[in-house]
Amino acid sequence: MDVSNKEKFTLSSELIEYIDSCKQQAHFKSFLINVLQRIQDIHGYLPQCLMEETALRLGVPTAKVYGVATFYHMFRLEPQGKHTINICLGTACYVKGAQRVLDAFKSHLNIDIDETTEDLMFTLKAARCVGTCGLAPVVMIDNDVYAKVTPEDVLTIITKYRQS
Ligand code: FES
Repeated sequence: MDVSNKEKFTLSSELIEYIDSCKQQAHFKSFLINVLQRIQDIHGYLPQCLMEETALRLGVPTAKVYGVATFYHMFRLEPQGKHTINICLGTACYVKGAQRVLDAFKSHLNIDIDETTEDLMFTLKAARCVGTCGLAPVVMIDNDVYAKVTPEDVLTIITKYRQS
C-alpha cells in the first residue's frame, strides 16, 4: 500500500521548536537523525510531507533528508499496521509448512510481505528463525507467539485481532 503521498501532516509545534533549537547549534545538520526519529515516534513512520517540511525548516536539500531516511534501517517510509505479523521462514518452520501459512495470511489480508492493510491494522513481515524451532511453524503477532500454526488457523487468528 502506498499512502505516503496521500497523508497530509504538518510538523507539530514541539517539533518545530526542536528543529529551531537544533538550528542554534553548531553543525545543526547533524541533528537530522534526531528530528526524523522524533517524527517517526509520533507517526510510526516518516510521512513524505514531513520530510519535505523538515528539509525546508533545517535549510537542507530534500534529497539529504531522503538520503538519511533511506540509509538507516530504523526509519520506515510507509505507515505500519497496528499489529505486526512476523511469519518465521527459518528452516524448521519452512519444512513444517510456513510458506503455506504465509500464503494464507497474504490471501486473507490481501497484502504481500512488507505491506500494510488499507485499514492500517496489520503489517506482514517474514522473519528468520525466532528461536522456538520446536514450535514450528511459528507466527509472532506483536509479542504473541503462535505455535504449530496451520493455514486453517489463520483466519481465526486474524479475527481475534480485528475484534480486540
Ligand atoms: S525456524 Fe522458525 S523458530 Fe526456528
